[in-house]
Order: sequence, then C-alpha cells, then structure tokens
Amino acid sequence: MEISLKNQVAIVTGASSGIGTGIAKSLAAAGATVIVNHSSEHSADEANEVLKEITDAGGTGIVYQCDVSSEEQVVGMFQEVISQFGTVDILINNAGVQKDAKFTEMTLDQWNTVININLTGQFLCAREAIKEFLRRGIDTSRSVACGKIIHISSVHEVIPWAGHANYAASKGAIRMLMQTLAQEYGADKIRVNSICPGAIQTPINKNAWSTPEAMNSLMKLVPYNRIGKPEDIGNLAVFLASDHADYISGASIFVDGAMTTFESFSTGG
Ligand code: BGC
Repeated sequence: MEISLKNQVAIVTGASSGIGTGIAKSLAAAGATVIVNHSSEHSADEANEVLKEITDAGGTGIVYQCDVSSEEQVVGMFQEVISQFGTVDILINNAGVQKDAKFTEMTLDQWNTVININLTGQFLCAREAIKEFLRRGIDTSRSVACGKIIHISSVHEVIPWAGHANYAASKGAIRMLMQTLAQEYGADKIRVNSICPGAIQTPINKNAWSTPEAMNSLMKLVPYNRIGKPEDIGNLAVFLASDHADYISGASIFVDGAMTTFESFSTGG
C-alpha cells in the first residue's frame, strides 16, 4: 500500500522534540508540507534541526514558533500558514508536557500549566483547524475528507496514574474532546481521531528508560517487551491522515506494545 500525503499541509504542534519530531518527519516523508511548530526561543534550534532533516531528506516545511496555550498566537499561526500555503489539511495536536507531583503537593501552577498546554492548546488548535476546513470545503485533489485532526493522547486517557493527576486528567479529557468533535463535524467530512502512545523513548519520560534498572521495571509494564520509538507513532499518523483511513473517525488507537492489557494481570487477579 502506497500512502501519499502530497499537496497536503500539516501543522504538527510540539514538533521540536520527541513524538512530534517523529510525526513531522513521517508526514514529510509521505509528501506533506509540514509546519514544525515549537513553543519558545528555547526550542528554536531543535525545531530548525528537525526542519533541516526534513529538507535534507527531500521534504518541505517551515518552522513556526507559537505557544499553543495562547489564543492569540494560535490564531496567528493558522493565519500565517493559510496565507503562505493556502490552507491546512491535517492538524496533529501533539504539544504536551508533564509537571508531576504527589496530588497533595501539586501546585495550582503545575495543574494549570498541564491543562493549558495539553488540553486548552488542543482545543484552540482544533477550533482554528475546523474553521479553516469548513471555509475551504472538500477538495478531492487533496483528500476525500474535508480535513483531518489527530490528537496525541496517551495510554493515560484510560490508565489512572498516581503522581500525575494533572496529566491523566488532561488526557482523559482529550478523549471526550476528540469524540465530540468527530460527532459534531462528521457530516462535514472532518475526521477526528486520537493516537494513544504508551512508553515511547523521548525526553518526556527519560527517567523511565535512561538506566538499565528503570528500563527493566518499565518492561514489566509492556508485554511486547520493547520501548516504543517516535516512528511507531509517525507511521500511524501517516495512515490516519491518509484517505486509506477514510472510515476511521472518533477512534482512540493505542500504540503501546499491549501496555493497556495490564501486564500485572498475567500472573494475578
Ligand atoms: C507519558 C510517559 C509515560 C507513558 C507510559 C506517556 O503519556 O508521557 O511519561 O512513560 O505515557 O506511562
């Protein structure tokens, strides 16, 4: 099966590292023009490096700095992308952070930061994307769908996570946001889905894999016995964004080496 995203424009939020980088590279390799979004000056070098890897491999794209939790900046990003490229076809709502704390010690700032970036950021980007999809309408030279949104959620949209209440709450909410949008805009031929990664080897969870002991204990949670790679997520994002996935909408797809089968039950229960 040959998958092409040629002539399509994709915004990938939080593309300067981790899963976002993996998805940006996969979409670009499939022919999409990719907007490598990053949040601050601090991540500019990394974003430029991602764009360089994309263009060195023959792909196209731009880097765009925007904090997804800022309404003004998100609106500005969509305006700029539409004025440069004509429209947006694919939104990968990926930007996310963890600010972990025991619940009774969690500050309001830690709570708000995670909710603002992980959840409000996905709301703001999805709203601007859907407005643009509806304005453009279906253009079958691009895709049979009017537009595609892929939320990057987590296994923690269904697995409770002690010490991470803010993060788990944000991911649980993304599931309902995604399903509601799929329902609300299905008749407009806008497809909305979530990818729910398990343990993927990225900076966000370095503590869970950077020593042999940590990796050993992580593997007790993963029946398939390996840590995921950003391209495991990128491959699915390409498929979901393509017309091959035209009947998939409103779905949370877990890419987790069977983590959500709860490995501890293989010997207990
Ligand atoms: C988190 C990672 C964690 C993984 C599995 C992800 O959503 O960001 O830190 O390793 O879930 O628990």
